[in-house]
Amino acid sequence: MSETAELKVGGQTLELNVIEGTEGEKGIDITKLRGQSGYITLDPGYANSGSCQSAITFIDGEEGILRYRGIPIEQLAAKSSFMEVSYLMIYGKLPTQIELENFSETISRHTMLHEDFKKMYSALPKDAHPMAACSTTVGALATFYPDSLDPRDMRQVEISAHRLIAKLPTLAAYAYKHSIGQPFLYPLNSLDYVGNFLRMMFGNPCEDYEVDPVVRNALDLLFILHADHEQNCSTSTARLVGSSMVNLFGTISASINALWGPLHGGANQSVIEMLESIHAEGSSARDYLERAKSGDESARLMGFGHRVYKNHDPRAKVIKKACDDVLERMGIHSPLLEIAKELEEITLKDDYFVERKLYPNVDFYSGVIYNAIGTPANMFTAMFAIGRLPGWIAQWKELHEDPAFKIGRPRQIYTGPNETDYTPMDQR
Ligand code: CMC
Repeated sequence: MSETAELKVGGQTLELNVIEGTEGEKGIDITKLRGQSGYITLDPGYANSGSCQSAITFIDGEEGILRYRGIPIEQLAAKSSFMEVSYLMIYGKLPTQIELENFSETISRHTMLHEDFKKMYSALPKDAHPMAACSTTVGALATFYPDSLDPRDMRQVEISAHRLIAKLPTLAAYAYKHSIGQPFLYPLNSLDYVGNFLRMMFGNPCEDYEVDPVVRNALDLLFILHADHEQNCSTSTARLVGSSMVNLFGTISASINALWGPLHGGANQSVIEMLESIHAEGSSARDYLERAKSGDESARLMGFGHRVYKNHDPRAKVIKKACDDVLERMGIHSPLLEIAKELEEITLKDDYFVERKLYPNVDFYSGVIYNAIGTPANMFTAMFAIGRLPGWIAQWKELHEDPAFKIGRPRQIYTGPNETDYTPMDQR
């Protein structure tokens, strides 16, 4: 007999079903709670609330486990590629050789943008943040492709998914080129996904650009590590926005904005800014740590802590090694990395951080890698967005294929004034 939970409330006892996931995670199904009792549950920040059942990503925060479609992240990091992981996300299985070739070719054939995008960029200020530019231009894709907006037509969804994966690197690179006043570089489809992005970012029309394999591999790895992370803020945004039946472009534009915040993907930019300010002020990792512990919000230790991981972030482990490799193979001795290493060392022994289970997260090291390969800090989160895109798309598709599909619409407990008469202007 399947497990149930009993809830005594308002003078009645309700029997609630318990749902069990394939890894033994349990959830109390409260879908009938309000109908049967008039009560709702309250869970600010959703720390205890499941919003869906999902077969995409499994995380065990206590054990530090992350798997995409059942495959451990460490194996994907060691053996796969971002194109293959994107396919895995969207189609739910690893591709055969021919499926991967076809998928990669389709993506490379969609990399170019409509020429009128140049006018859109020229309308943006030079110092526009790339995340604002990306969300704007991704939203604008809906105006250029009215032929693939129907969320109920799976072929149209597939075409817009391909367009998004193909065009986001071009849009992000254009945002950067616009900010430094350099000409946009058209995509070069003989290069692979990551190589093409690097060339559009760092190349110029006057010279040949040679893709550095160390940099290419590091970026491919970062994209793999970012590809999905179950119901985080920007992914929940994709599901909530998508549940209104808006098209995929509008949804992804919203997710990009959600990712931008410093408590989410924007943390990678904040990490490097924090390390730079410690370095520029000539203060020490220890001093900064003490400020962070004192509750000084301006000194929150960016790149530390995670809502789910309370042991270690498995992505941080993989990335730390990649970070060491990139810096060593590129011969970079970064004072910022020294500060980062010192911060990590002392926090791991510090009672405040140990008691609160605060460990370095993925953003702690990714910023150092982006920095080492010459990326300006305000582009870091846009690169995170390129990596996270297949996950957003997969979650959006899963939502729409779910027989339990409903528009997302949370309830609230109202705490405002009781009924109050309108006061005319002359009596206020
Ligand atoms: N530095 C100093 N204290 C911290 C930190 C930190 N980075 N993170 C949490 N704490 C403290 C917090 O003040 C609180 O202390 P107390 O119990 O005394 O009030 C306790 O630890 C619990 O923190 P919380 O804010 O309730 O935890 P949360 O699960 O709501 O927040 C978090 C998770 C990631 C938003 C938070 O740890 C944080 O702000 N970290 C820095 C930003 C960051 O690195 N974000 C990237 C997350 S991973 C990638 C991604 O999501 O994109």
